[in-house]
Amino acid sequence: MEELKAIMEKFEFRNIKQEETEQAIVIEQVCFPPNEACSEQNMKDRISMVPELFLVAVDKKTGQIAGFLNGLATDEPAFRDAFFTDASLHHSDGKNIMLLGLDVLPEYRKQGLGRSLVFQYLQREREKGRHKVLLTCLDEKVKMYEKFGFVDQGIANSAWGGEEWHEMSCTLVSG
Ligand SMILES: CC(C)(COP(=O)(O)OP(=O)(O)OC[C@H]1O[C@@H](n2cnc3c(N)ncnc32)[C@H](O)[C@@H]1OP(=O)(O)O)[C@@H](O)C(=O)NCCC(=O)NCCS
Repeated sequence: MEELKAIMEKFEFRNIKQEETEQAIVIEQVCFPPNEACSEQNMKDRISMVPELFLVAVDKKTGQIAGFLNGLATDEPAFRDAFFTDASLHHSDGKNIMLLGLDVLPEYRKQGLGRSLVFQYLQREREKGRHKVLLTCLDEKVKMYEKFGFVDQGIANSAWGGEEWHEMSCTLVSG
């Protein structure tokens, strides 16, 4: 509770603005190695086409983005790598969300910001009536996402970055 209070005092959570595109591109490059990072063009596409599924945490002191979580909506039931590279697969009323990236700048880590981004994102999409949120992650992050309420579905149908990924999902509504 104390952690959440401190986070809400320090950060503003909202959709990304178009003029923050360059910031997001740089943050992605800081957070991920080149084989895993979203390309500049793909990031531009996501922000121009799906800003409503791009949640940012802005440091109230500096006005700069400290971290973000982005995704797109679809009726498809499983993750595939094309979601990373083709934002036109987004269907605004899709029942499921494919998460594409959780990024927190190094100087803001280990304070609960990643957790807050995920929880707020899940809450927002639950309120929109989405069914499920899916993501892929490396083995070392499975425990973290389990803490956030996701269930490990085993090895994903993904060859992103030449690595082996787990698919994880979180059901937002029953049925
Ligand atoms: C992973 C990342 C988003 C975590 O952000 P953060 O703000 O430091 O996370 P939080 O402080 O909210 O931590 C939440 C929980 O996740 C766990 N966790 C945090 N970073 C972790 C990491 N690198 N590996 C494994 N678990 C981690 C913590 O144990 C913590 O649980 P606890 O509070 O019970 O100890 C951040 O380190 C990052 O941007 N890394 C580079 C990009 C990346 O790997 N993104 C995720 C890709 S799937």
